[in-house]
Amino acid sequence: MDRHSHSRPDQVVVRHLDMDLRLDFDRREVRGVARLDLERKDPAAPLVLDAQGLGIEAVAGLDGAPRSFRLEPEHDGLGGALVIELERGDAAVRVAWRTTEHADALQWLEAEQTGDGVAPFLYTQGQAVLTRTWIPTQDSPGVRATWEARVEAPPGVEVVMSAERRWRDADGAFRFSLSRPVPAYLVALAAGRIEFRPVSERAGVWAEPGMLARAHEEFSDMEAMVAAAERLFGAYRWGRYDLIVLPPSFPFGGMENPCMTFATPTVVAGDKSLVSLVAHELAHSWSGNLVTFSSAKDAWLNEGFTVYLEQRIMEQIYGPERSNMEKQLGRRDLEEELKTLEPWQQVLECNLQGRHPDEGFSQVPYEKGALFLRRIEELVGRKAFDKFLNRYFKQFQFQSITTSDFLASLNEILLADHPVAAKKLDIDSWVRQPGLPPDAQAVTSELLRQVDTELARWKSGVTPGELATSGWVTHQWLHFIQGLPEPLLAGQMRALDNAFQFTQSGNSEILSQWLLAAIRNRYTQADARLEAFLMNVGRRKFLKPIYSELAKTPEGLARARALYAKARPRYHAVSTGTLDGILK
Ligand code: BES
Ligand code: ZN
Repeated sequence: MDRHSHSRPDQVVVRHLDMDLRLDFDRREVRGVARLDLERKDPAAPLVLDAQGLGIEAVAGLDGAPRSFRLEPEHDGLGGALVIELERGDAAVRVAWRTTEHADALQWLEAEQTGDGVAPFLYTQGQAVLTRTWIPTQDSPGVRATWEARVEAPPGVEVVMSAERRWRDADGAFRFSLSRPVPAYLVALAAGRIEFRPVSERAGVWAEPGMLARAHEEFSDMEAMVAAAERLFGAYRWGRYDLIVLPPSFPFGGMENPCMTFATPTVVAGDKSLVSLVAHELAHSWSGNLVTFSSAKDAWLNEGFTVYLEQRIMEQIYGPERSNMEKQLGRRDLEEELKTLEPWQQVLECNLQGRHPDEGFSQVPYEKGALFLRRIEELVGRKAFDKFLNRYFKQFQFQSITTSDFLASLNEILLADHPVAAKKLDIDSWVRQPGLPPDAQAVTSELLRQVDTELARWKSGVTPGELATSGWVTHQWLHFIQGLPEPLLAGQMRALDNAFQFTQSGNSEILSQWLLAAIRNRYTQADARLEAFLMNVGRRKFLKPIYSELAKTPEGLARARALYAKARPRYHAVSTGTLDGILK
């Protein structure tokens, strides 16, 4: 049972969706008609769908006659139940709806909010529980359906979806279909002035024209990543692997929509330094999209596995040192965040009863989850672990599973043959206890150690210009900024900035770390850059710490509220949902 869905897949389950969608940019509305094919496990039971802020216009049987339905009250950010009474022979129903201004999945952008500033844009974000705000369906990761769609858009608007792209109808409508069953959170759409450039036969990049060349260059290793992932984890099961670079308001770094990763433009750094995001979203093609967590409490099965797989892909393509830097930085982020989390939030298999799925979102499912898998790998050896992973993905392909399913498989397929490892592995403390177990791997990178040396020299009085920083890569700069002591004097901030041009950095990760330091140390020379960043970028991972840091002092809070009032209309509901809570 999934606490975050009203649906009752144990009674009636949606197996296929055939949608007709019309995008109306003027009214900011998606109108849809869908045929939902059903499997009726309990012939007497109604069909229950999830719906939030949807205008349901009609429900009919395939005979064309109406079926009675009711929308139950919405609650707790989870929408309400749409209950449809079925007749005896109903193997499908047809639902007609329109979205409202409460469709939190959708972001309609004015032309000037896009990268190019030329044409309006629409994109959707389904995870965790937002698909129900634009499509009436069973919105639980435990329910999988195949789907197809016909999409009508205004002339000149290109449409992509998280599926195979089919043909265009004579009237210009776009056709998509996905023959593999997926949960509803993986149904996604983007529409605007976008163009495509291939990276290989099966992989390519979509972006606004002004971004396309840079994005294509940045992500030119996509094919190598897919090939590496296939060697490591088994066949790629989704046909094409494309990526779309969205306008800067996209609230996440990336989203693993099948066939079409959605990505923030803030990872296009010019030097491939942030492409682990592509490895991550690609890895979800195995951990997440092929084998899926069945409800939010098992989110680590998606994200922890994916961080582990991402690190393996990065190691294959860019070498162990790069991967070590990323592991070390990831572990540090986890340790920092653990200091701020309640014990229940520090647990991999966490208890989300009475809580919104977003409350379980932290570095814990990601980094602690990955560390758990690395610990198992360390105990049984990489060869045996890889063999297990391949079998695990086969065993549960196109299924949604729980932590117990994983542990049963782990015991059966792997630990049964490795009794010594089995004895050493403390599953309970990894999966059900807060904090980080003492046997968590502490990876140390040589390149980051060099940074520590220079930090020590700087602390002992060496000027920034005299430090041995030549040739430093992004990860080293991040480690440097994070390693600066607090507080810093205005003169020290200025000297660092003069030497290293942090305020002018074009790298979003470096810039956001520096802006945090600027706020903490009242370095006002960064004010204009801070304001421009907040006005342009809608990625929650950057916004949340920046606004939180500002909100720590009364003057900062006033400033944060003034900036937020201006910037808020530019952010997606995922980000405003979090920021409203911080700045209320
Ligand atoms: N699936 C997640 C995004 C997500 C998680 C959306 C939970 C809603 C609820 C995606 O794969 C992800 O993890 N994105 C990260 C990037 C990654 C490199 C860690 C992000 O957006 O920061
Ligand atoms: Zn992820």
